[in-house]
Amino acid sequence: MSLDVFNKMLRKNTNHEIQLDNLENIDEYTVNEIIKILDIPKDYIISNVEVPPYIYNSKDQIEKTKRPIVRDGIHFYNYYTLPSPKGYVAPVLIDILCPKEKLPKLNNGHLEPAITVSLGPNDIYARFAKKINKFTFLKFKINPDPKTNWVVGSNYYEPSYCLHTYSRATNGPGKILSYTTQSNTEKLFDSKLNENSFNALSKTTDPDKPNRSFLMQDILNRGYNLETVAKETKVSLNKLKKYFDKKGVLNPKELNKICSLINTDPSFYNDKSYKEDKIGRYYYDYKDSLKTARKFKSYEVATIAGSARSPDLTGLFLKVKNNKTKNNCDLLDSNCSHYLVTKGNIEFHSRVNDKFEKIKMNEGDSIWVASYTKHGFTGFGALIKISDGQNFNYLEKIDLINTYNLRKTLRRGRKDKVNWGYDTKK
Ligand SMILES: [Fe+2]
Repeated sequence: MSLDVFNKMLRKNTNHEIQLDNLENIDEYTVNEIIKILDIPKDYIISNVEVPPYIYNSKDQIEKTKRPIVRDGIHFYNYYTLPSPKGYVAPVLIDILCPKEKLPKLNNGHLEPAITVSLGPNDIYARFAKKINKFTFLKFKINPDPKTNWVVGSNYYEPSYCLHTYSRATNGPGKILSYTTQSNTEKLFDSKLNENSFNALSKTTDPDKPNRSFLMQDILNRGYNLETVAKETKVSLNKLKKYFDKKGVLNPKELNKICSLINTDPSFYNDKSYKEDKIGRYYYDYKDSLKTARKFKSYEVATIAGSARSPDLTGLFLKVKNNKTKNNCDLLDSNCSHYLVTKGNIEFHSRVNDKFEKIKMNEGDSIWVASYTKHGFTGFGALIKISDGQNFNYLEKIDLINTYNLRKTLRRGRKDKVNWGYDTKK
């Protein structure tokens, strides 16, 4: 639809005319008329407030978000929310209140993957299944060594629908930091596909080798069958059949040949493998994290457990020991990050639009930092950093990698208001 056609339709019910450089102050009535004409939901066209470069919350501000959770008839948790932009899923701090004598009642799990870190001051128990054994009920430990306790405690990555719950392991308090990030497939599981389509997707997708199912589907989507693929690629029909029946493999050269024939990207279709245990969890005792300790820029860092299944969800312990550098902005990440000060007194530095800013941070304070924002820390203390893809995710990265003439697109594409170049009738 061109703009003049659109305005003609809009004028039937309003005295408003839309110009592309005049979209800031449109009244509610006109907005409703516009969405009727375009047949789109309102949130497609109402403005998104730009995310700030960072959001700081002091410990006191975080304390004010405290809310109790009752489970199994007892006051089970207190939840606190860390700062994040409007509409984002935020990490939570959770007080563990279930007493050590009581087996904590399991939750139902959730679609969203998560990273969880034991924060102390005491060890707690973490439970992962109905049946209790060494593997499903374990001490979620705190690092007791003051020399290395910037690596605060044990931590793990939790996949979709992994059951979990916690109880105290002592008479003292325990706390966790849990980041259940947004799932990229949430809309798919909601109503993006209709019931009929979703059922067919579930039926035609092999849960063990979904990559092979989607390749087979892409072959069919493009009007090929295995016979024509075999003929054109010289990969034998028998081998192709075995591959899609999960009874054989294809080498990368053969996979490339098929993808070249149907003109698609072979990298999506490789067989995958992941570091995980038999419930899909990837667990790091604090000692496992400590083994990864290394120097990075002006910090010492250690890895928090993550998974290649959720490439955007990653975590680090950071030790800050630097009183020399002014305006220390040695960090820049493609993902946005949540920082929680776990020890000491530090200063957060940022450089936004060539302006330096500073914030003093103490234990319990937290800050959210946007993607591609120069920042850093000085002082003496420790932080937990958990990053995720809500500001910029790996699927968007793949799309940018695939974009033709990226240089020009990056320049032109930002808030592009140039029309398609059709003639305007006057
Ligand atoms: Fe959870």
